Amino acid sequence: MRLACLPGDGIGPEVTAEALRVLATLPLKVEVVELPFGGAALDAFGDPLPAETLAACHDADAVLLGAVGGPRWDAATPRPEAGLLGLRQALDVYANLRPALHGDVDLLVVRELVGGLYLGERGVRDDGTVFDTCEYHPSQVERVARRAFELARSRRGRLVSVDKANVLETSRLWRRVVTELAADYPDVELRHALVDSFAIEVALAPDTLDVVVTENMFGDILSDLASGVAGGLGLAASASLGDSGPGIFEPVHGSAPDIAGTGTANPAAMIRSLALALEHALGRRDLADVVGGAVDDALAATPTPDQGGEATTIEFGDAVVASLERRLTTEEKTWATTLS
Ligand code: NAD
Ligand code: IPM
Ligand code: MN
Repeated sequence: MRLACLPGDGIGPEVTAEALRVLATLPLKVEVVELPFGGAALDAFGDPLPAETLAACHDADAVLLGAVGGPRWDAATPRPEAGLLGLRQALDVYANLRPALHGDVDLLVVRELVGGLYLGERGVRDDGTVFDTCEYHPSQVERVARRAFELARSRRGRLVSVDKANVLETSRLWRRVVTELAADYPDVELRHALVDSFAIEVALAPDTLDVVVTENMFGDILSDLASGVAGGLGLAASASLGDSGPGIFEPVHGSAPDIAGTGTANPAAMIRSLALALEHALGRRDLADVVGGAVDDALAATPTPDQGGEATTIEFGDAVVASLERRLTTEEKTWATTLS
């Protein structure tokens, strides 16, 4: 197992360090390669996604990514964010799974990640007009929708497809393709919703939702909203998956410039993203569950400021590691000792 680790900017390196400590506690042999990315790489190499970083990601089994961006680079060309978008495109990780799991809420946003407004042609016309275009090919819709139907089937069997079909041509295509696909999944209950009124459902009745599938930009906004009703950005993890090749595992949150350097960022989202890597890239759902349980223990006993507590990032990491050591069976501990 080889893991490409891209800490990035702001709180990215702070939360990534805790995830790596958690990884080191597990009975697994993993080679970790740390690589420059984002604003840090822009400063050092003039490129937010240097060729060596991209090559190492291609060669890895999974990519663990912190966060990129910050006010320092808001006027830079390219911006650090371009490195993130380029990496997602290069690995063709079209299905972005963003679970919001907290209390009564257990919803999964499946966001299309490599198309739509993010990929379409953009530019400036002679008269000063600026444009971004939104395009989808039916096959782009079909592959992410299929993923969402499969996930709904493995969960509570309910899927909401979110669009703006009352206005947008791309949304009418989206709705048509999803509707056609539903014939293959008679066991999944499909509902279509318009994004504006659906936002109220996420805000006021998140506990009634199971799986939500939507296009790139709507998914970006709805997943932050979903995290807000499920404990906040400090808890929200994500897995970005393609058909083959390495997935990217990263928190939903950004580089949090307002708290970067204070040592108070919540590393739970990052550690939960590691758990998603264990599940999806390694097929170790068992270890993912142990890590998830340890994060829950730390949240209950040692919360960071965003959760109403006073723990630092490192103290939270300590608590997760301590809980993990308690939770790993004696047998697994023996195995860990043998391997290391
Ligand atoms: P943000 O997610 O960085 O922060 C939003 C708010 O949530 C801030 O108040 C922040 O302090 C808080 N927050 C976020 N993560 C937290 C954590 N782990 N613990 C405690 N509090 C946390 O969003 P923003 O401020 O809009 O964006 C800042 C920068 O991050 C921008 O440059 C943006 O482009 C970038 N960004 C990057 C990614 C990514 O790399 N995947 C994602 C989103 C935003
Ligand atoms: C996210 C982020 C990114 C996105 C930005 C930083 C490009 O907001 O991962 O949600 O919009 O996809
Ligand atoms: Mn976002």
